[in-house]
Amino acid sequence: MAIQLDKINYSYSVGSAYEVHALRDINLTIEDGQFIGIIGHTGSGKSTLIQHMNGLIRATSGNIYYNGEDIYAQDYDMRSLRSKVGLVFQYPEHQLFETTIFDDVCYGPKNQGLSKDEAGLRAFEALKSVGLKEELYYQSPFDLSGGQKRRVAIAGVLAMRPEVLILDEPTAGLDPKGRDEILALISKMHKERKITIILVSHSMEDVAEYVERIIVMNHGQVMFDDVPHEVFRHYKELEKISLAAPQVTYLMHELREKGLPVDVNATTIEEAKSEIMKVLGKKTC
Ligand SMILES: Nc1ncnc2c1ncn2[C@@H]1O[C@H](COP(=O)(O)OP(=O)(O)OP(=O)(O)O)[C@@H](O)[C@H]1O
Ligand SMILES: [Mg+2]
Repeated sequence: MAIQLDKINYSYSVGSAYEVHALRDINLTIEDGQFIGIIGHTGSGKSTLIQHMNGLIRATSGNIYYNGEDIYAQDYDMRSLRSKVGLVFQYPEHQLFETTIFDDVCYGPKNQGLSKDEAGLRAFEALKSVGLKEELYYQSPFDLSGGQKRRVAIAGVLAMRPEVLILDEPTAGLDPKGRDEILALISKMHKERKITIILVSHSMEDVAEYVERIIVMNHGQVMFDDVPHEVFRHYKELEKISLAAPQVTYLMHELREKGLPVDVNATTIEEAKSEIMKVLGKKTC
C-alpha cells in the first residue's frame, strides 16, 4: 500500500498575485515494489507531486498516508518518512558538498543517527551498488563526470536504505550513453532490492522500456494512470500536450495502417521485433 494520496491540492504563493494552483485533486495509490514513471510536460506538476510524497511540501488540502499512517498527524515522525521515501532531486550533483565522495554518501545515514562505522558501511554498500570504482571513493566528487556525479548522488540516498526511491529527471543533461547507464542502474536496483521506484521524466522513450505503470500529469492533474501500452493507446491525446509516445508505437500503428496485422501494443523495440517477426511468420534470432 506504501503511499496513498487522497484529494491532494497544492498552491504556491497562496493569496498573492503569483498564486499557482500546481496540483488539483490528486488521488493516487503507490503500491509496494512498483516501478512507476511520472510523465508530463514542463510545469505540469511532477516535481511538486513527488515532493509531497516524502513530506517536503505540505498539501494545501487533502491527506497523505504512508503504510496507512496519516503523515500530517501531529505526532507523525516526518524525519523518518524522509529516510523511508528517498528523493533524488533534479541535478542532484549540485547538492554534493563534502570533500570526498565517501563523506558525501555518509552524510544521509549519519543524519539518520547511525554511528560513524555504520554510516561508513552503508556508504560503502551504496557506492558499490551504483557501480563506482573503489579507487574513486576518497577523491573529490567535483572531479567526476556528470554521470558519475549522479551515481554518487543516488548512492547518497540509497545509503539511507529507503523503501521508496523517487528520482526527479535522473537523466536530464546526460549524453545518450550516460542516460542508458543511469536507467539500467535504476532498473537493476529495482530488480535486486525490490524497492518501489518512481521515475520522473518528460521522455516517454526513457520510461517505456522500464516501468510497469505510467502516470501522466497535465496542468496539475492526473491525465492517465495505467500500464504503458494502455497509456500509449492515447498517443494522439498525448501529442496534444506535447508528449509523444515511443517511436515503436508510431511504427506499429503505421505498419497496421499499411495492412500488416500487428498488435499495436508493443512498447519496447524487443516486443515490436518479436511481434513483427511473428506476423511475418519468421523466428526471432
Ligand atoms: N517555487 C515555486 N514558486 C511558485 N510557483 C512554482 C514553484 N515551483 C513550481 N511552481 C509552479 O508550479 C507548477 C508546477 O511546477 P513543477 O515544478 O511541479 O512542474 P514540473 O512538471 O516538475 O516541471 P519541469 O518538467 O519543468 O520540472 C508550474 O506552474 C510552476 O511554474
Ligand atoms: Mg520538475
